[in-house]
Amino acid sequence: MRSKLVVGNWKMNGSREANALLLTGILAGLANAKAAAAVCVPAPYLYQCHDLLQGSELAWGAQDVSCQPSGAYTGEVCASMLQDFGCRYVIVGHSERRAYHGESSELVAKKTKALIEAGMTPIVCVGETLEQREAGQTMEVVNEQLGAVLDKIGPDALASIVLAYEPVWAIGTGKTATPEMAQQVHAGLREKLRACNAASAEKVLVLYGGSMKPDNAADLMAQPDIDGGLIGGAALKAADFLAIIHAAK
Ligand code: G3H
Repeated sequence: MRSKLVVGNWKMNGSREANALLLTGILAGLANAKAAAAVCVPAPYLYQCHDLLQGSELAWGAQDVSCQPSGAYTGEVCASMLQDFGCRYVIVGHSERRAYHGESSELVAKKTKALIEAGMTPIVCVGETLEQREAGQTMEVVNEQLGAVLDKIGPDALASIVLAYEPVWAIGTGKTATPEMAQQVHAGLREKLRACNAASAEKVLVLYGGSMKPDNAADLMAQPDIDGGLIGGAALKAADFLAIIHAAK
């Protein structure tokens, strides 16, 4: 049986003062949690996480990485820098990066590989838009996004990734996929993982993201192929984030 993981994606939110309050609030309520927990914060605040969270039960990470190892890439942050600040997880291929920064599946695959080589765990996001869902293209879209990553990293590295299914139409909209809808896609993704490496596929955590809240988290995470959550808005309040973490059984 796979363990559960709940990750907060803070997106472009926070300040040193607000983060200190949020992180202390989360730490205060983590005892007896059955799920592992992490926060993925804006890059300038990684130092603060390193400072406040070292030795705690709350892991931390980043929201993006360069696929390049170093050099003349203004504005970019490479994997070794994230590792320098103790990141365990790094989100790649979030739909906001794909939509607003034109990230292709090929680029997401390169970033995934760079993270694995640096010893961190990539959280690879896949998901369809509303138009794609309505056109019946959901599995085609997510399989293409996942396939590019699997082709790049190969079967031996499969166990090093976390996958997140985030239907774009559910992100920040308050519209959540029903547990059954989400499970159907998660099961399809697991099938694709099995075709890559059957043994590792059973170990890969597949998180759901998209308006996961305290009142729907337990039902979503009770599904056999939903191994936790990638939480946006509800990760910005300690009480809500903790309620989601404790909803994992
Ligand atoms: O990475 C997190 C997702 O984009 C979900 O965001 O919980 O605000 O819908 P949300």
